[in-house]
Amino acid sequence: MSDVLLSVEGLTRRFDVSKPWLNRVIERDERQFLTANADVSFEIRKGETFALVGESGSGKSTIAKMIVGLLEPSEGQIRFDGDVMDFNSGAAMRRLRRRFQMIFQDPFASLNPRWRVGDIIAEPIRTFDLMKGAAIRNEVGRLLDLVGLSATDAEKFPHEFSGGQRQRIAIARALSSRPEFIVCDEPTSALDVSVQAQILNLMRDLQDEFGLTYLLISHDLSVVRHMANRIGVLYLGRLVEVADAKRLFLDPQHPYTRMLLDAVPDLALSGRRRTPVTGEIPNPINPPPGCAFHPRCPHVMPICKQVIPPPIETATGRAACYLLAPTPA
Ligand SMILES: Nc1ncnc2c1ncn2[C@@H]1O[C@H](COP(=O)(O)OP(=O)(O)O)[C@@H](O)[C@H]1O
Ligand SMILES: [Mg+2]
Repeated sequence: MSDVLLSVEGLTRRFDVSKPWLNRVIERDERQFLTANADVSFEIRKGETFALVGESGSGKSTIAKMIVGLLEPSEGQIRFDGDVMDFNSGAAMRRLRRRFQMIFQDPFASLNPRWRVGDIIAEPIRTFDLMKGAAIRNEVGRLLDLVGLSATDAEKFPHEFSGGQRQRIAIARALSSRPEFIVCDEPTSALDVSVQAQILNLMRDLQDEFGLTYLLISHDLSVVRHMANRIGVLYLGRLVEVADAKRLFLDPQHPYTRMLLDAVPDLALSGRRRTPVTGEIPNPINPPPGCAFHPRCPHVMPICKQVIPPPIETATGRAACYLLAPTPA
């Protein structure tokens, strides 16, 4: 039996960002498409934390939404526990949906403000018909306790809690359908630094206790550093490097990964950024030809401006860069 829980292959998502039809006719504009993700492939093994990192706009949330079934891929496929996700089968998607959950960046936006916390947490239990009556109440109390809140909090509303507590509620809700896999999209980005570590620690404890598998998404390498077993680095919608987490920090292969690592605050935690990330992410509607990173790359070669580099096996995983391989003739 394979130990892979989730795999994506050749995942691509385009958005139609054309102007309305009449404007196009009058202004003689073409249809325009934005490629949020192109040819993304990776695997997540049971019980591990796989992290996706990249700057804002690199396509992290789009991947998350496709994996949890909120967005249909333009190309490519997603396999969960061996089965290809079939976006056209409502019944199949429903069965899968119990098995994976998502935690969002902004717990205030993801929790219905008019519902009591108890009902918010119970919703997946009711949706999937996992329990009835008083058992639900008990389960909600147990879940609140599990995330460091109290059973009496079930009667309150989301606005009565702090940001960190609200993220705890979102975690309790995510756990209530007893999922195996949780996609966490910037779960601590909206929180104070002092609270971030508490939430990350809670996520780790819960992972150990329930054998959960995580996809952790963050723009911040220092967040994933202590959480991830493996890391994928996204640039303009493409994976440029995938590697074992420890080795990625010690020995980054792709120049973009190196740039991100150089910008992580130093280990003495002086808060000083060593070398700021320079340059800007290009427009995904009109990406640069060849390697999309080439306009920012300190090692750019002629081939980089012409042909998208294929992923190459490295000592630490894989990376897509001509520095790592003989350039094609
Ligand atoms: N519904 C949409 N329609 C058009 N463009 C979108 C849509 N969702 C995301 N995008 C674009 O796709 C790219 C990737 O977005 P996103 O996945 O949110 O990145 P990230 O989460 O890494 O910040 C961005 O350029 C964004 O503007
Ligand atoms: Mg995002």
